[in-house]
This record gives sequence, C-alpha cells and structure tokens, in this order.
Amino acid sequence: MTLEQFEQDIEALRSGALAAFTAAQTAEELEAARIQFLGDRSGLLKTVQQALGAISKEYKPAAGRAFNAIKQVLTDAHEARGKALSRSASPAADLDLTMPARRQWRGGIHPVTVVIDEIVAIFRELGFTVALGPQAESEWYNFGALNFPANHPAMDAHDTLYLKGDVLLRTHTSPVQIRTLQTFPPPIRILAPGDVYRRDFFDASHAPMFAQIEGLCVDEGISFVDLKAMLSNFARRFFGAAKTRFRPSYFPFTEPSAEMDVECQICHGAGCSVCKGTGWTEILGSGMVHPSVFEAAGVDAEKYSGWAFGMGPGRIAMQRYGIPDIRMLYDADVRFLEQVAE
Ligand code: PHE
Repeated sequence: MTLEQFEQDIEALRSGALAAFTAAQTAEELEAARIQFLGDRSGLLKTVQQALGAISKEYKPAAGRAFNAIKQVLTDAHEARGKALSRSASPAADLDLTMPARRQWRGGIHPVTVVIDEIVAIFRELGFTVALGPQAESEWYNFGALNFPANHPAMDAHDTLYLKGDVLLRTHTSPVQIRTLQTFPPPIRILAPGDVYRRDFFDASHAPMFAQIEGLCVDEGISFVDLKAMLSNFARRFFGAAKTRFRPSYFPFTEPSAEMDVECQICHGAGCSVCKGTGWTEILGSGMVHPSVFEAAGVDAEKYSGWAFGMGPGRIAMQRYGIPDIRMLYDADVRFLEQVAE
C-alpha cells in the first residue's frame, strides 16, 4: 500500500466518523457510531491500523504519525459529542440554577383551630383548664344527666346520630360537664373543646359535624353576674369594640339561660346573608347550671352553684375571617385555606 492510498483511507475514515458522530441524536446512536468507527474488533480505525503494517519501511514513520493524529481527533470528537448529548438530555441544562425557588405553601393551622386556641388562651388567664370527653357518648351523659326528660321533644332539636343501643355521637360538648363534675370536686373551671355531631344536612350555615367549646365554672356563691362578667370580658378580649348582647333562651340543663350575640362582623350590623338580615350572630348558649344536673353528677346543689356555656368556634371563625359559607371550613380546599390559615 502506498502512503497516498493510506492517507486517502484516513481521510475517508475522518469524514465518515465525524459525520456519523454529529448525526447521532441519542447516546445509543452515538454508541453505534463508535462501534462502527472506533470499535476494538472490527471498527474502521482498526482496519486502518492493520493497513499500517503493509506500508513500506520508508513511509512508515509518516503513516504512523498520521494514524496517531486521526485516532486522537476521532476519540476527542466522540467524547465531545457524548457530552453535548448528555447536556441536552438533562433538563438542568436549561435551568437557571441561581434563580430563587418559588415559595411553596407548607400548610397552616385551620381557622377553626386558631379560634379554639385563642379562646382557650383567654380563659386560661382566668384559671380555666382544658377537659376532654369521648365523642361516642351514652344517652345518659348526652341527655339524661343534662335534665332532658326521657323522650322529651327538646331532644328533637338535636337530630342525633345513634351508633348502637344507647350509644350515640354526642350532639354537644355538655356531657363533658357531667364527666368533670363526677371526677373533680369544686371549685371547677374547665373548657372542653371538641367535635359534635347532628343529623343535619350541609347548607350555608349547617354541617353534620362541627366544633364546640364548652365552658363550666362551679364554686360556692357563683351567680349570673359572674357569667355575664366573664363572657363580656371574653367578648371584649376576642372581638374588641364589637357590640354584644344577651338574649333569654332555654336549655334543659341551665336555668336561667341566655344566648350571646355579637354584632355581625361582616355587615357591621346592617344586615346581610350571613346574619340573615338581623345584624347579629349568635356565638354561644349559656346559663346557670340547673340543680338537677348537679344532682345527676353527685354534686351538692345546695352548697354549689355555677354557670356554663357552649360556644361555636366555626361561627366565630366565619365572623372573624368574613367566611360566607360554613362548608368552606370543611371542604379542605387549599385555595381557600391558604388565604385564611395562619
Ligand atoms: N349545649 C348547648 C348546645 O349545644 C349549648 C349550651 C352549653 C348551653 C352550656 C348552655 C350551657 O346548644
């Protein structure tokens, strides 16, 4: 073989290999081209190397240099194409790694929980501790001990979800009053937050499950003045300048009984759909603990008196955050929650 022929072979190898490397669009195609041109066993470079043996002695050094040069060129070209392909295959190539990350919402405290925590904190300063009770209750704790006469129509106002026999999902947190009175001697000052259940259908102001906070204060010489003072103080602390009012009411387990309204925080008294045009929202029921409740729980009703309340933190959250529909509190829609959760 002449040097000239050898150089022609090298030139054919160079243009063929470079074109094949450039044409490769994937790592697999590039590997196929590498095997074809640079492969150890039957690659074209190998064939050219073998041809080197057939060059006459005189031209061998020049042919050897030409072979080494082409080998280097092709190895470099293969490597460069491999790097280019892996850069464009990885999306990181198009990212600005110095760009600050988009802030992710990591969740927060649900508005009803925020309200419960604040109420508990305000009453804690007045000496109230937290007591809890079961959500599956007996009829006796939920109704009987709370002075609901058997089969009394007052229970109709609590559309109850029964589980089995006389066990039901508690319709209010008031059974915790009984459990506390049975367990601890007065003086008693407790708050009992928790979920309650009623056979209600969802609408803008009803849900079959909602949170309540029960309050109970029992000691010697407690009067309605204490109830009014404590609850008015709470309302000032919680709602600031908003007006509040007491309205006479009826509960079998308190006598006298009163409901407390706060001026609607959404329309500020003008009347809107949330307050049903009245300008007021009821936030709690309350009253002086009925002597029959003390008797049922084994507490001396001659010696002790007390007051109790049941508050709806869901309604209070709606007032505070201007939420027009109670269902929004239970939908778990992140678009809503990230606006109000703290
Ligand atoms: N348990 C009553 C209810 O759910 C509220 C209440 C509690 C009223 C304590 C008076 C005293 O409607």
